[in-house]
Amino acid sequence: MNVLVIGSGAREHALCRSLSLDPDVTALHCAPGNAGIAEVAELHQVDALDGAAVTALANRLGAELVVVGPEAPLVAGVADAVRAAGIAVFGPSGEAARLEGSKAFAKDVMAAAGVPTARSYVCTTAEEVAGALAAFGAPYVVKDDGLAAGKGVVVTSDLDAAKAHAAACERVVIEEFLDGPEVSLFAVTDGETVVPLQPAQDFKRALDGDEGPNTGGMGAYSPLPWADPKLVDEVLHTVLQPTVDELRRRGTPFSGLLYAGLAITSRGVRVIEFNARFGDPETQVVLARLKTPLAGLLMAAATGNLADLPPLRWSEDAAVTVVVASHNYPGTPRTGDPITGLDEVAAEDAPHAYVLHAGTRQEGDAVVSAGGRVLSVTATGKDLTEARERAYRAVDRIGLDGSQHRTDIAAKAAAEAL
Ligand code: AMP
Ligand code: GLY
Repeated sequence: MNVLVIGSGAREHALCRSLSLDPDVTALHCAPGNAGIAEVAELHQVDALDGAAVTALANRLGAELVVVGPEAPLVAGVADAVRAAGIAVFGPSGEAARLEGSKAFAKDVMAAAGVPTARSYVCTTAEEVAGALAAFGAPYVVKDDGLAAGKGVVVTSDLDAAKAHAAACERVVIEEFLDGPEVSLFAVTDGETVVPLQPAQDFKRALDGDEGPNTGGMGAYSPLPWADPKLVDEVLHTVLQPTVDELRRRGTPFSGLLYAGLAITSRGVRVIEFNARFGDPETQVVLARLKTPLAGLLMAAATGNLADLPPLRWSEDAAVTVVVASHNYPGTPRTGDPITGLDEVAAEDAPHAYVLHAGTRQEGDAVVSAGGRVLSVTATGKDLTEARERAYRAVDRIGLDGSQHRTDIAAKAAAEAL
């Protein structure tokens, strides 16, 4: 199979890595990619938001499957353009991707499908905002309605900060605060059949102890030893399948990756958000544990054949990923700094630990930082403790001036599992 992956993050590196290990994949391309992806896939230039350009590239390369990684091209309708050209594509239509592109739309779908989520108001004026904040009380949850790369949400007990965030957005969703641990559950779907993957937990805040601002995600682990073994089945029946059924009923079927961000509250599971694509950094740990070849799974979703697919096979191993971010992320990150230690990780820590690149660029012989989240170190082990040790040993080999990473990824879960 000839596969083209669109995107340039650590998620796309993880996808390309798994695809490169799939014996059915005979040619692997990525656009635009990054310095790390170049080691497993052939890179091409493309404007990832331009459906016609992506389709032309796919045609030129003879791609049989196009995998669209990030949300922005999906919301822009890139998957529609590729599909219209008769090429199989993994990723939802622009209409269906509104599940991620508009939080208000997602709330509407959930209400129609009876999916449990936080109570909420959609507000466009300062008066509506003040009323909604007063109705729910602190802590306040204020979400930019549109795409914001994981940084559009403010959770605060400071009323002025909540109002200021709302004022900076055109349209916001204000909702009740959900307590309890968070779980990211991905499902592969062809618009009808829904195949859940293994759950993971992401660390959204920038600093240890869940302090600091929200980010795109600073680390993740899987499995979740503390979670109810029935959780996946429950979420399939109460969240994932009803949502997929509702979108099909509306005439805008969702095929691709449905990502449910969940809070396990004292009153049960609630959806925090939906995404229309693989999560980053959760994908790094979920794919590290998936034994079923990836290309066949994605192709079955893209062609409506998921019902015929045998059950997925999973490794018993645990996986941990730690994101190394630039100085000042998630503000305006500093870029252009050289990254050292990549060869040492490859020489000393592989195959149990490896680096997945996000914001990196090749400059002559050097790999330099080119974004907020620069790379993520992923490791597997017989349990979370071993996976953590291996991940942090590799992180310690990486040199990047001013970089930051959390030191407590999976720490609590690993300690509790002992
Ligand atoms: P979202 O982009 O909607 O996933 O929100 C980003 C992060 O903000 C989530 O992962 C949560 O940590 C937090 N968050 C969002 N909504 C809520 C809520 N209703 N209650 C508590 N925390 C929330
Ligand atoms: N890790 C959160 C996200 O991908 O949105």
